[in-house]
Amino acid sequence: MKVPSLNAAAAVLLVATAADAAGSLTPRSWDEAYNMANTLVGEMSLEQKVNITTGAGWEKTLCVGQTGSTTNPDFPSLCLQDGPLGVRIAHNVTAGLSGITASQSWDKKALRKRGEYMGKEFRGKGAHFQLGPDVEIMRSPFAGRIFESFGEDPYLNGVAGVETTIGIQSQGVIATGKHYILNNQEHNRMNASSVVDDRTLREIYAYPFARVIEAGIGSIMCSYNRINGTYSCENDATLNKLLKEEMGFQGVVQSDWGATHSTSQSANHGLDVTMPGDIDMGDGLSYFGKNLTEAVKRGDVSEDRVTDMARRTVASYYKMRQDEDFPEISINSFNESEAPEVLVQGNHGHLVREMGAAAVVLLRNNDNTLPLSDSLKKIAIVGSDAGISPDGINCGQFQACDNGTLAMGYGSGAAYFPYLVSPYEGIKNRAGDDVEIVHTFDDWNTDAAADLAKTADIALVFANSDSGEQVEVLDGNNGDRNNLTLWHNGDNLIKAVADANENTVVVIHSVGPVTMPWVNHPNIKAIVWPGLPGQESGNSLADVLFGDVNPSGRLPYTIAKEESDYNVHIDLNHTIEFKEKLLVGYKYFDAMNIDPLFEFGFGLSYTNFTYSNLKVKTSDNNNTIATATVSVKNSGDVAGDEIVQAYISFPESAGEPPKLLRGFEKVHLKKGRRSTVTFDFTKTELSIYDLEKADWVIPSGEFTLHIGASSRDIRLSATFTLN
Ligand code: NOJ
Repeated sequence: MKVPSLNAAAAVLLVATAADAAGSLTPRSWDEAYNMANTLVGEMSLEQKVNITTGAGWEKTLCVGQTGSTTNPDFPSLCLQDGPLGVRIAHNVTAGLSGITASQSWDKKALRKRGEYMGKEFRGKGAHFQLGPDVEIMRSPFAGRIFESFGEDPYLNGVAGVETTIGIQSQGVIATGKHYILNNQEHNRMNASSVVDDRTLREIYAYPFARVIEAGIGSIMCSYNRINGTYSCENDATLNKLLKEEMGFQGVVQSDWGATHSTSQSANHGLDVTMPGDIDMGDGLSYFGKNLTEAVKRGDVSEDRVTDMARRTVASYYKMRQDEDFPEISINSFNESEAPEVLVQGNHGHLVREMGAAAVVLLRNNDNTLPLSDSLKKIAIVGSDAGISPDGINCGQFQACDNGTLAMGYGSGAAYFPYLVSPYEGIKNRAGDDVEIVHTFDDWNTDAAADLAKTADIALVFANSDSGEQVEVLDGNNGDRNNLTLWHNGDNLIKAVADANENTVVVIHSVGPVTMPWVNHPNIKAIVWPGLPGQESGNSLADVLFGDVNPSGRLPYTIAKEESDYNVHIDLNHTIEFKEKLLVGYKYFDAMNIDPLFEFGFGLSYTNFTYSNLKVKTSDNNNTIATATVSVKNSGDVAGDEIVQAYISFPESAGEPPKLLRGFEKVHLKKGRRSTVTFDFTKTELSIYDLEKADWVIPSGEFTLHIGASSRDIRLSATFTLN
């Protein structure tokens, strides 16, 4: 359908694709896709196959990366575009929740829908690959790109990664799991070597990749760093052995941009496509291309291997049915004003608002201060984080800008906001004309903030903490955060407001944990944690503040009392030893008996839930090894959603941390209603990696299942024995 052009140079198109019309499509099986790919690749010359393995060159293409194409037989140049939260370097797209905030919802259905709408938008823009989801573990809360993935736990990353992947691929777009692997900080990411033992590698870092592979993900991006001394994109142990043989990955391994360092070594050790193609970005040379053809002619790389490399890309293309019909590329990454205006947002803003509200974590709510009462006459809103940046909603290179409300981090994991509803605007709209709203966005004039707060019935004070990819230095932070304190005088501002108003509500937009030196201030009645909600920020926040949505978000990481309570900080050495092994995030806090400020899985509701009647039984039905049921009742006064969490303590001989998240379900319950929640545990949930056997095994002995509302709010436990 065509609508009148807004821009004389560019056609405006509303995209209605096959996937749109059908809602979703079913990817082909790998077998079917491989059969088709075998036929096509079988007709290709060595040079044609090599062309498919070689990116067309930095800034030479419409997308941030594109594969080479062939004619006779014909195979198109495929478009690869960032990123994990939406189409980057494109307008008329949705800029929704960051991965870390999406995982705060602990809502599988919402995660799936988010994947679906993102896939629809990538497809609508003609992007064959979405460069996401990011399923890297938050090893350290200081790391810059923690906002792109799903937090500190492998199981949560796995579930969120799977739902996102299935959603994206249901639209015929190839999802890309990244960054494979052990690329858990920004400092020295181009050359540092991560050193980790085989068990930790599998149980913590490869675990979510294994899950997205089971879900049929089409692509994996190898990372910049080295692993045990060898670059990730030429690492036989992690690419050939672990990813392809052990985890059975059949799709295409693409390099991160500029992460290829050799020809034969990379090809032989498992890299299938070099991106964006160049040796040094923009030099027009390539480790693949002619160099790969020559390596085959010399006998350094077999032609069979090149056939396999090309076939993996072609098979992913067929798997996602991109041969059936696929829109033209309408992205123009390096010449943005030339991009035709193609509108793909549909009504996705509604999903962003809905999921944004579902992701809000209520950390404190003393005296039932929230939801805001109808009798309020005057609300004070304080802090630059409540408003729009004076430099605009898309300020800073790659969104590296933090002088307004924070709704995403920066770097290639960012996208342009089509609009951004500020907290101020969202609250003002929802409050209506009967409530007076006064505000100041000045973080530094704490006297003025206090004077304003004093006059109001309630004061909402906003602050934030940003981070990103190491492409920009922001406020002295080189991607990774220098510290976990709030930015722009946030701590002083909060304290000044709390001193002035005995009904103070703190709202924090952050990429991850922050320190809260003011947390025990008696006037701070509520603390609200919306994360990075994207374009509908103010609306989704207002939905929760005014009680239109009962909060059910839960923390996907641990908020410690002190920075020094965390065991992993940014490591400036060139060899980064993962000495903490399995003790990542809450597992460390549990093992060391350190009380967190707010634990992993924590979040309050406007109602209460009671748990009863936990039963667990072992079974040998299909894959299910144990099944548990528990009854959950909404024992409060309003309808709400509970995130019922299942943690497992392994037999002591297994050498696992005290407990591991191994299941969660979101249940909606009206006031007074009860529901039975069922958990099935399979080998995926119950096995450990046995170093001696070099395999996954289910340890024998007594397991304890803990069911609760957070990792530290265990309501019921039961044991079961496996032999
Ligand atoms: C480098 C980033 O690490 C990666 O995540 C991104 O997809 C590529 N650049 C392409 O922009």
